[in-house]
Amino acid sequence: NIKGIIFDLDGVLVDTARYHFQAWRQLAESLGFSFTEEENERLKGVSRRASLEILLSMGKLTLSEDEKESAMASKNKNYVEMIGKMTPEGILPGALDLLKELKQSGIKTALGSASKNAPLILERTGLARYLDAVVDGNRTSRAKPDPEVFLLGAGDLKLEPGECLVFEDAAAGIEAAQNAGMKTAGIGRKNQLNRADILFPNLQGVTWSVLSKKLSDLPR
Ligand code: G6P
Ligand code: MG
Repeated sequence: NIKGIIFDLDGVLVDTARYHFQAWRQLAESLGFSFTEEENERLKGVSRRASLEILLSMGKLTLSEDEKESAMASKNKNYVEMIGKMTPEGILPGALDLLKELKQSGIKTALGSASKNAPLILERTGLARYLDAVVDGNRTSRAKPDPEVFLLGAGDLKLEPGECLVFEDAAAGIEAAQNAGMKTAGIGRKNQLNRADILFPNLQGVTWSVLSKKLSDLPR
């Protein structure tokens, strides 16, 4: 029985996945190689450092620790410039309606994001007041697919993992939630998120009754 929902941030609640992609692409280009949207799928949900490592392996490049630090700083500077201008309009369609409905229905909500920039985004968009708990990259030490971020979220909500459903747009995030023993709802396309228990193209029209119905139809 689901009593709490944990939301990933980038690409689920807010339209920031494209900013991450743009910032990583600029970094790749400055290092002399190209980086496609398809390749970017592997970075989704993955921490800043782990993302850089994947990017460098795609470009077949090795950097010293100092160079890595400055590459991450430059990517992040770029990214922060983009999200610094966000407004509530950056909230993805359907997200606010769902969060409000969950609050009214007594379903607990938490954020489960790898991003260290989550506080800035929550503040710029006004999303903070719809969340009962916030776990972000400033509190975690292990990147998705490690379950750490979602287990901390369940703990904050005082729920068992089995009582939580996770919304994720990243394959690494779906895996993390499953590693935590939680039900998963993918946001995106089947070919990228084929392991999710249920799948939606986006949050538009996703209500608690739609979710309850889909969850009760799952094999147990
Ligand atoms: C999210 C995004 C990733 C990003 C990670 C760390 O999981 O999906 O693309 O790399 O957060 O974000 P940060 O803002 O801390 O660099
Ligand atoms: Mg995401």
